[in-house]
Amino acid sequence: FKVPAIDNEPMKSYAPGSPERLALEAALTQMEQELPFEVPCVINGKPVKTGKLAKQLIPSDHARHLCTYHDADEATVASAIDGALAAKAEWESMPWSDRAAIFLKAADLVSKKYRYKLLAATILGQGKNAWQAEIDAAAELSDFFRFGVKFVEELYAQQPSKNSSGCWNRVEYRALEGFVLAVSPFNFTAIGGNLPGTPALVGNVVVWKPAPAATYSSYIIHQILLEAGVPGGVIQFVPGPPPEVVSQAISHPDFAALHFTGSTVVFKKLWKDIAANIDKYKGYPRIVGETGGKNFHIVHPSAEIQNAVLQTVRGGFEYQGQKCSALSRLYVASSVWNGGFKDLLLAETAKIKVGGPRDPTNFMGPVIGKPAFEKITGYIAKAKEAGGEVLIGGTGDDSKGYFVQPTVILTKDPKSITMREEIFGPVITVYVYEDADFEKTLDLVNTTSEYALTGAIFASDRKALLLATDKLRNAAGNVYYNEKCTGAVVGQQPFGGARASGTNDKAGSISIFYRFVSARSIKENF
Ligand code: ALA
Repeated sequence: FKVPAIDNEPMKSYAPGSPERLALEAALTQMEQELPFEVPCVINGKPVKTGKLAKQLIPSDHARHLCTYHDADEATVASAIDGALAAKAEWESMPWSDRAAIFLKAADLVSKKYRYKLLAATILGQGKNAWQAEIDAAAELSDFFRFGVKFVEELYAQQPSKNSSGCWNRVEYRALEGFVLAVSPFNFTAIGGNLPGTPALVGNVVVWKPAPAATYSSYIIHQILLEAGVPGGVIQFVPGPPPEVVSQAISHPDFAALHFTGSTVVFKKLWKDIAANIDKYKGYPRIVGETGGKNFHIVHPSAEIQNAVLQTVRGGFEYQGQKCSALSRLYVASSVWNGGFKDLLLAETAKIKVGGPRDPTNFMGPVIGKPAFEKITGYIAKAKEAGGEVLIGGTGDDSKGYFVQPTVILTKDPKSITMREEIFGPVITVYVYEDADFEKTLDLVNTTSEYALTGAIFASDRKALLLATDKLRNAAGNVYYNEKCTGAVVGQQPFGGARASGTNDKAGSISIFYRFVSARSIKENF
């Protein structure tokens, strides 16, 4: 069989007054009336209430919470692993067409039946505005499931091209022996779906620990997967505090892989913990992670100013700078900076309204929680102490929600703290370089940060783009010419970074599927 033609999910506009805006408003109102929800663990398709309760706060209004969830305890994690292992044989031997159909159905459930519910949960729980939520919880999530099916079809078709006479060579792409642990972040509902979904598509069983701050949207995805036909046991839903759930899972002898998105610090710690447990396992676990970033825009003297500024504002401030790909350090040629870039950047930033994510006039909403608020405002203070000049923004207000104003800091020291360290908030630090120093600046970009996730180069002169691409060979996993450094589309720009940004296995492409299969070569003589 061949899977049906696959395309990216079309995005809705959410213009005020449009039918989709009204439908979304209705879903939001209903959710606000019904909250707080109770979210259990889900083991073998059944709710499990541990009674160890925690809350997912609404970051734009932290006196309220979206859900109360049951933290997985030791017994629940143990039964999640046992149940997953028990479900494995049937799932991995299910005909591929059936697994494909289940995930195609899940994509349709996301894009049709549950779109507004998923968006409402992402807007209220994670503080995205309607457009950011649409990109994430509608488009990217359904794309991950649909394109995943296409990528697996392509993977299974990868077969030896040569058979000598009297024999037939073939390769079987088996699921891993054991279970996969998926640990997902708060900032993309879609990544929550992708981290368990990708390994499950190729026949693996998965224990999924969603980020506490994305519990409710993750729970909806889990319900969708069950409704689509994923058998109970294949993806176990175990919300909870990271250390307990995760360390119990990675010390289990049947642990086969980690599929992680989150901070560099946590990923490195898990890597070491996995190494410490290595003698317990049946095999060498696959470790797949997407972690931090210190993403850059470089503006060449030949750049078109208006485009470079608008892309900079979007790259740095959309979703409050909380995309792993978000712009954080900006290098601008002095002729461009003084020739209109600075004034336009400040004027565009001044236009940004910050506030509750239901209001369509707010370009920015809250940051995810109190620790994030304190970390971001703390970095602004440190930048000032180090001599940075706050050109705009620089303040926050956490009295009702966790709001931080879009902030631009000018630094004379290209190695200053906010040029190097990940902030994960709406803060852009700018370094203005002499036009003649473009090439030197490329070396600076390359050597300033430990991360290598995304970057963008703005230039009309194509030679400058090529020079930058060459010099920055290892400085980013995703590079954009004359466009912001965020917004990779599944199936179009495989996404992921290297160095301290991750294992660069490229989400949204065929590459990542190789990490979750163990190939077997079969030679048959006739
Ligand atoms: N894939 C997301 C982006 O590129 C993180 O912005």
